[in-house]
Amino acid sequence: MNSSAMRKIIVTVLLLITAAMLVHAQDPFTACNTVKYTAGTPFALNVDKVLLSMQKNTPKSDDRDFWIHLTKPDVYGHANCSAITTVAECSSCLSTAVGDVSTCGLAVGVRVVLGSCSIRYEAYKF
Ligand SMILES: *[C@@H]1O[C@H](CO)[C@@H](O)[C@H](O)[C@H]1NC(C)=O
Repeated sequence: MNSSAMRKIIVTVLLLITAAMLVHAQDPFTACNTVKYTAGTPFALNVDKVLLSMQKNTPKSDDRDFWIHLTKPDVYGHANCSAITTVAECSSCLSTAVGDVSTCGLAVGVRVVLGSCSIRYEAYKF
């Protein structure tokens, strides 16, 4: 084998390793706090508001990155989409993410990471 062929093989292997790492970094997951809040409380209302606001505002923000903080009581939220997503793709991904949030039940904090978007809310600043 000549050295040019060898170089091509090495570059290909490095590209495959990089691609595998990138794919792995985007493995979707949902993490639910095991502590639950009570339905109908001010905290519950703020969680709903934060989720709605993140869904509505993240696709519209230039960098597809949106933070929110409501008070009384504190609920902090962060949502983002990959910068290359269109408004429609970002909205669609966030809908899926909010659906995944509901699988956590009334968890006081949830983080959902999908391939092209992620959302998180907590009772504390993060
Ligand atoms: C969202 O932001 C987090 C950092 O807060 C980052 O790790 C992640 O890659 C971002 N997700 C997307 C889809 O851009």
